Amino acid sequence: MQKFKQIVSNKALEAVKSVFPDAMISSDDLASMLEYPPDTTMGDLALPCFKLSKTLRRSPVQIAQIIAEKLADPAIKKAEAVNGYLNISISDEYLCSVLCGEILENGDKYGSADFGKGKTVVLDYSSPNVAKPFHIGHLGTTVIGHSLKKLHEFVGYDCVGINYLGDWGTQFGKMIVAYKMWGDREAINEGGIDKLVELYVKFHHAAEEDLALNDEARAEFHKLELGDEENIALWKWFIEISVAEYKKTYAQLGIEFDSYKGESFYTDKMPAQVQKLRDMGLLKIDDGASIVDLEEYNMPPCLILKRDGSTLYPTRDIAAAVYRKQTYDFDKAIYVTSAGQSLHFAQWFKVVELMQYGWHDKLVHVPYGTVSINGAKLATRTGNVILLKDLFAQAIEKVSEIMDEKNPNLENKDKVAEAVGVGAIVFYYLSSNRIRDINFVLEDALSFDGNTGPYVQYTYARTCSLIEKAQDKELNSNVIFTSDEERELVKTLARFPEKVLEALDLYEPSVVTRYILDVATAFNRFYHNCQILSATDVDVLSTRVALTKATNYVLGNAFELICLKKTEKI
Ligand code: ARG
Repeated sequence: MQKFKQIVSNKALEAVKSVFPDAMISSDDLASMLEYPPDTTMGDLALPCFKLSKTLRRSPVQIAQIIAEKLADPAIKKAEAVNGYLNISISDEYLCSVLCGEILENGDKYGSADFGKGKTVVLDYSSPNVAKPFHIGHLGTTVIGHSLKKLHEFVGYDCVGINYLGDWGTQFGKMIVAYKMWGDREAINEGGIDKLVELYVKFHHAAEEDLALNDEARAEFHKLELGDEENIALWKWFIEISVAEYKKTYAQLGIEFDSYKGESFYTDKMPAQVQKLRDMGLLKIDDGASIVDLEEYNMPPCLILKRDGSTLYPTRDIAAAVYRKQTYDFDKAIYVTSAGQSLHFAQWFKVVELMQYGWHDKLVHVPYGTVSINGAKLATRTGNVILLKDLFAQAIEKVSEIMDEKNPNLENKDKVAEAVGVGAIVFYYLSSNRIRDINFVLEDALSFDGNTGPYVQYTYARTCSLIEKAQDKELNSNVIFTSDEERELVKTLARFPEKVLEALDLYEPSVVTRYILDVATAFNRFYHNCQILSATDVDVLSTRVALTKATNYVLGNAFELICLKKTEKI
C-alpha cells in the first residue's frame, strides 16, 4: 500500500499544482496526510483536506473537489469528494496485478526491507538474575526483546541479542552459604534450578531467625570477589545450571542469544569508567558514596560507588554500554525492562551523555507494564511467584486436552501442543500495548474462538491445508477478483509492510499481533463466503488459491516477528 499511497500523493500533487502552481507543498506532505477510512465502503484511502485549506486558501470542500476531478491513474478506481475529504478507491487491476503479485513474488521476504543494512543493533533483553526464579515478570522483556530483534533483522539490521545475566552480586554469597550448609550436589544436578531456588528461599527463611547468616553470606561473596577457587567453581556451576534451564524455555519460544555476557563480565571494566567520571569532575562524594548529581536534569543522583567503594547497577551498565559500543559499534542499543527501571535508564543514559561519548542518543530504553495472573499480583519476596516454565507447562497441558478432543490422531501432537500452548501465552501477552499492565486470564488466552494465538495458528494451519489440497488442481496465473471478501483480504495483506514500520517506529510488537488478527479475520471471512477449492471457473479457483498462498506468507512472516510458531497442522 505504500506504493499506492505514493501514486495517490504524486497524482494529487499534480492536480493541486495545475490549479495552484505556486502552492508550497510536496508529495511527501500529501502522503503523510493520507488515512485509512474506518469504513471501507467510503474508499480505501482518504485525504482529509482541512490542513491544505490554510496553504491553498480555499475551503476543504473545494480542495477535495478540485483534486477529485483531476485525479486519474490506472491504479485508481474512483476519487470522490465528500465533506472536505477526498475518498479514493483502488482499481481491481492494481489489486490483482500489483498488490497480490508483490506478495506472491516476495513470499517469505514480503514485508521486509533493507534500510538497516550495514548497521548494527544491540538488544539487551530477558537478562534474568541467576539463582532467582525466572518468573512471568520476565515474559515481557523476553518476548518484546526478541520481537524487536526480529523486526530489526527483517529490515536489514545486523542484530546482536544479549542476555545480560544477573550473574554477580551478594545473592551468590547467600547461595554459597546455603549450599555449604544444606546442598546436595546430586540433587541439584538432577533437580536443576528449582533446587537452587529452594536453597535460596531456605536461606532467606533461616536468615530471618539467624541474622549472622547474612554476614556469612557477605564474607562468602567477598571470597568470591577475591577469586577463591572453591567459591568460583560453585558460582560457575550455579550459572551453568541456571542457563541450561533458561535455554529450555528459550527453545520453547524459538529464541537464541548471541551473547550471554552477564554482569560479572564487566567487573574489570568499571574502574576505567569510574576514573573517567572522576577525571571529568563529574563525581561528587555524598555521605561517603560517589554519585553523579543530576539535579539539573530533575533526576535523583546516579549512584556510582557505595561507601565501601563497591560498584552498583548503573556503574555496570555504563561499563557494559562502553564495551558494547567498542565491540559492535552499534547504531542503536535497545534495553527492554519493566517500567520500574525507567528512572535507572534515564539516569545512566544522562551520565553517558555527560561523559561526552557522543553516542548517548543511540541508547533506547523500552519499558513495559506489570503482569498479574487472574488478578493476583506477583511478589518475589513472599515466594508467591509463577514461574514462566510452569505457566507454559500449564498452557501446553490445557491445549493437549483440547486437541485430544478435537483432533486425536494428529501427528507430532506434543510438538504442536507446545507450539500452540506457548504461542497462546505469547500472543495474549503481545496483544496489548507494552506499557499497559496486563492481567492474564489463562482461559481467555487459550480459547480457540477468541482473538487468540490458537485462533490465528489455526487459521495459518487452514491455509497450509488448502494449499496442500490445491496441489493436484489445474491452476493458471490469472488473478481476477469476483467478491468483496477477496478485495478486502488483499488490501489487508498489503498493509503488512507498513505495519512492520509502525511496529519498529513505536518499539511495539503489539502492532504486528493486532495486525495478525486483522488478517485472520479477513481470511476467515473469505474462506466462509467464497468457495475456494470447489470453485469451478479455473481463473476464480486460481485466484483464490493464490490469495490463500499470499495469506500464508503474510501470516507466516508476521508470526516469525512475534515468536509465534508456524503450525502447519493443528
Ligand atoms: N537483571 C535485571 C533484572 O532482572 C535486568 C537487566 C536489564 N538490563 C540491563 N542492562 N540493566 O532486573
